[in-house]
Amino acid sequence: MPPPACHIFLTMKTDILILGSGIAGLSLAIKLARQMPDRSILVLTKTNEEETNTRYAQGGVAAVWNPEKDNFDKHIADTLDAGDGLCKREIVELVVSEGPERVQEIIDMGARFDKAQNSPDYDLAKEGGHSEHRILHYKDLTGWEIQRTLLQEAEQYPQITLLEHYFALDLITQHHLGRLVIRVTPGIECYGCYALNKQSGEIETILARATVLCTGGGGQVYKSTTNPIIATGDGVAMVYRAKGRVEGMEFMQFHPTSLYHPSGGNPSFLISEAVRGFGAVLTSKEGETFMEHYDERLSLAPRDIVARAIDSEMKKRGTDCMYLDCTHLDKEGFLAHFPTIHQHCLSLGIDPLNDLIPVVPACHYMCGGIWVDEKGRSSIHRLYAAGECTSTGLHGANRLASNSLLEALVFAHRIAEDLSANLANMPFQEQIPDWNSEGTMAPKELVLITQSAKELKEIMSYYVGIVRNNVRLKRAMDRLFLLYQETETLYSTTAVSPQLMELRNLITVAYLITRSAAHRRESRGLHFNTDFPGKLPFVEYSIL
Ligand code: FAD
Ligand code: SIN
Repeated sequence: MPPPACHIFLTMKTDILILGSGIAGLSLAIKLARQMPDRSILVLTKTNEEETNTRYAQGGVAAVWNPEKDNFDKHIADTLDAGDGLCKREIVELVVSEGPERVQEIIDMGARFDKAQNSPDYDLAKEGGHSEHRILHYKDLTGWEIQRTLLQEAEQYPQITLLEHYFALDLITQHHLGRLVIRVTPGIECYGCYALNKQSGEIETILARATVLCTGGGGQVYKSTTNPIIATGDGVAMVYRAKGRVEGMEFMQFHPTSLYHPSGGNPSFLISEAVRGFGAVLTSKEGETFMEHYDERLSLAPRDIVARAIDSEMKKRGTDCMYLDCTHLDKEGFLAHFPTIHQHCLSLGIDPLNDLIPVVPACHYMCGGIWVDEKGRSSIHRLYAAGECTSTGLHGANRLASNSLLEALVFAHRIAEDLSANLANMPFQEQIPDWNSEGTMAPKELVLITQSAKELKEIMSYYVGIVRNNVRLKRAMDRLFLLYQETETLYSTTAVSPQLMELRNLITVAYLITRSAAHRRESRGLHFNTDFPGKLPFVEYSIL
């Protein structure tokens, strides 16, 4: 018989608790440290400080930067068009209009965006769905540069403590004080979280006046994804368990062009949309173009359209991938803009300037998530959220390329403003019991968890992918229910581990995607159901 789980319990206190060290979490921590120098800020990250989705961003950050050619109205119109009728207009307007100031702030911290040759002006790139060149970038490593800048800046503030390898398990609410909390309970409050210190094995109670989720996306719910393995939707799952509001989860964005590799690979390597913005064209293996059959914007149509077109061509032709033709592009320019993509392709025996690059759609971005208002406040009091884990209303049914980094910066700023004004009215709740691990044992076999995670990814990829129908969604739901029951049984008897918690979180995210997809009886943006190919006249977010 395995030994009983042994945990030591500790309690920590911080004024503001931030979960996540990507662009949302770090830019918020820096703002708070500047605005409230006497407050303590604790940032937790479940692996190391730079392992985030942010670090892998390639294309860049979209913002109106060249007033001679571009303006807010154009960026707003492009965002609304990509969002296919579901964006909240007031949110689009505020993100687009506040965006340039927020981008300037990270430039002032030292982010080195590329300048045009022999010019003081930024080299603005273009991506799918954008009517103008407006994407600031650092080669094809924009996220790496932003992550570097923010980590360096955060180090300057002694009131910011960043703890690596701390896995947040659950949010603490009145439920932990023994009260009944259900989805319609008014006035649910968050008092912090329980977190597993992965190095010591201790489960710590972290009390905070305010908690902010910046936990990123959940691409790992699919077999093929551009997201790193940390992207398991933990924040969304924690909010759902705490009975908070989640919305728009059917809108999982598939990036049209991840590099095809016959043996898979997790994560899939991204071939940035900026490569198409630079002139690359989608083709078949024989070099024929096909996007003219789908959209007049051709290879630079919004992502939902291009990903569906590639999926449809692959099904028609019975092929495993389509191709990206860069062979006609200026060699010097290509190498200057995309050195990482060039090197990565070469390492696999593909020379992008001589060979067609094999590409396939892969899950890339979670457009829905934790519902937040224009100040980043969730439906749970004293709980805020920013970045990819949220649904702000900016992306609607499909995100416009490079709007994600921008959204994270704008909402981090707004949360900092709200907390500066209101933190004094948020006292600590001291009466929180330790994490309850009664009746749990050390796990017998971790393989049960990894096998369930594989099954989950298969279910989601086969039945809830780019093109859906009612039978597939029903199958997915039935199979997910089985996985859920098995995993909950395991959870009630096994000591928590990051693997088990991530599996539970992925099952919750998969359930939320599938349920919202089944609920939407139309096709819109990223959600396409062949049983309901048309659009309904009245559009609403699906709320869970
Ligand atoms: P992340 O950067 O993902 O950070 C999440 C953090 O939360 C991590 O620190 C993680 O450890 C922590 N965390 C999660 N769960 C827990 C837990 N349980 N306990 C403790 N910590 C936890 N967007 C653009 O706008 N432009 C681009 O060019 C672009 N390119 C992209 C390229 C790739 C390959 C990918 C994958 C995404 C790209 N995106 C791009 C999307 C964008 O990078 C992300 O949406 C954005 O970086 C998310 O930032 P974030 O701060 O919300 O989360
Ligand atoms: C890319 O570089 O293609 C990714 C951009 C994004 O996800 O916004």
